[in-house]
Amino acid sequence: MVRITSVIPKTYQDRVIAPSLLAADFSCVGDEVSRAILAGADWLHMDVMDGHFVDNISFGPAMVQTVHESNDIYLDVHLMISRPDHYLPRFVAAGADMITVHVEAEHDVAETLRRIREAGCEAGLALNPATPLGAVEPFLDQIDLLLCMTVVPGFGGQAFMSEVLEKITDAVKIRAAKNLTFHIEVDGGIDAITAARCFSAGANVMVAGSSTFRAPSMVDAVIAIRNA
Ligand code: DX5
Ligand code: ZN
Repeated sequence: MVRITSVIPKTYQDRVIAPSLLAADFSCVGDEVSRAILAGADWLHMDVMDGHFVDNISFGPAMVQTVHESNDIYLDVHLMISRPDHYLPRFVAAGADMITVHVEAEHDVAETLRRIREAGCEAGLALNPATPLGAVEPFLDQIDLLLCMTVVPGFGGQAFMSEVLEKITDAVKIRAAKNLTFHIEVDGGIDAITAARCFSAGANVMVAGSSTFRAPSMVDAVIAIRNA
């Protein structure tokens, strides 16, 4: 396998396309990651599920480490686990660049975010569609990314929930009022059509699983989302 380097720092004003590894062919993960990079992916989104916080089990730190060792793409690790504080050091050691934890999980959110940054990673905070923006407001000055879930997390291939768009526009307003610079990411049911609506609302990071890895042409799919 050829090692590919592709890490360009991004700001909240950049469009970032992050294919989700959950939709890749697990029988050849390294090649799938290379395929995503060659298709123009900016980041690789990695969905960690513990079978407790969500009703599915995906992969853990060993997978993050394998991908980290095989390629240099920026690793956007989304922890859908009940105790992110407990497992945090393992994901840091595995080579995660961004570590996103859920506000609904069982931990001291401020302390976990502080530890993520202290470890040299970027810190993301996620909220489920049913969770109001007020739940993350106390932490906005501690994060590099706000992940507004656009499906109930757990499975790829679900339909986009357009009611989340209002949360995105509200988050943009609060970010401006507080002079902050965190990315706004959306995850779930993103394709070129729903991405257009999310970009318009003010999100800049598009996580896309099925619509990229399972597209007839991944490069065309990434371009279509970027230009949505
Ligand atoms: C959902 C995951 C997503 C998922 C998105 O629980 O967090 O990242 O992989 O998959 P698609 O793009 O297929 O909806
Ligand atoms: Zn995700």
